[in-house]
Amino acid sequence: MKRFTLFALAIAAGAVTAAPKADIAKGKEIVTNICAACHAADGNSGIAMYPKLAAQHEYYIFTQTKDIKEGKRTTGASAAMAPMVAALSDQDIRNVAAFYSTQFPKEGETNPKDNAELGTKIYRGGLAAKNIPACMSCHGPSGAGMPGGGTDIIAYPRLGGQHKAYIVEQMKAYRSGQRQNPIMVDIASRLSDDELDAVANFIQGLH
Ligand code: HEC
Ligand code: HEC
Repeated sequence: MKRFTLFALAIAAGAVTAAPKADIAKGKEIVTNICAACHAADGNSGIAMYPKLAAQHEYYIFTQTKDIKEGKRTTGASAAMAPMVAALSDQDIRNVAAFYSTQFPKEGETNPKDNAELGTKIYRGGLAAKNIPACMSCHGPSGAGMPGGGTDIIAYPRLGGQHKAYIVEQMKAYRSGQRQNPIMVDIASRLSDDELDAVANFIQGLH
């Protein structure tokens, strides 16, 4: 079993290195001309409806941008972004993803009066009685997530410092099935609105 796993990883790693190389300088140009208007030039958007992209994983930025471009992801104001990225090639998107993934994330803040204790508990330890796993187990203790690559490895997106309202909106989209990912649909549907609000508040200040 172990040997098989190592073998599978070796294949996946090979697929990653064989992928076309990203050009960060070209990515920066596209960001300046297109993405910066909403996500900010360094990816630290100050407006809650536009997710922060600074230090987000390359592979995650790539897949989500493609999904929005192709109309597979329709959450929030995705429809406003789709026409802006419609003319980008896969290589363009790869370049942009490489640029944003190397930007430095600015810290957000947790509101201490907004159920911060419950939010910390859910993120770090989950809620055993409701079968909710610790968010930390996949998204990391500091919210940095885990990069992925190739076609078989899932990227656990970075969450640390993300806008609270955006987190809440995405969790509701998983809950309603508008966004589909079996793990997140299950977790989001077990959280009450109050619990969701609390954990999103915690994540906004996580770094
Ligand atoms: C007109 C504004 C606008 C522009 C321009 C724009 N976006 Fe977006 N983008 C959005 C909005 C709004 C969302 C959030 C959609 C939602 O709520 O689900 C988003 C979401 C994303 C996400 C998903 C992030 C996540 O955490 O899941 C990625 C990745 C992304 N944009 C990349 C880009 C890139 C790369 C560019 C430039 C090539 C770009 N966007 C240009 C508005 C924009
Ligand atoms: C078993 C692993 C796992 C656990 C535990 C987990 N997540 Fe996730 N999460 C994922 C994966 C994988 C994705 C990417 C799904 C996709 O592609 O839509 C994700 C995506 C998300 C997103 C969307 C991010 C974005 O930028 O759009 C949010 C928000 C989120 N998770 C919040 C949470 C919270 C809050 C918890 C704890 C209550 C949690 N997750 C627990 C694996 C996990």
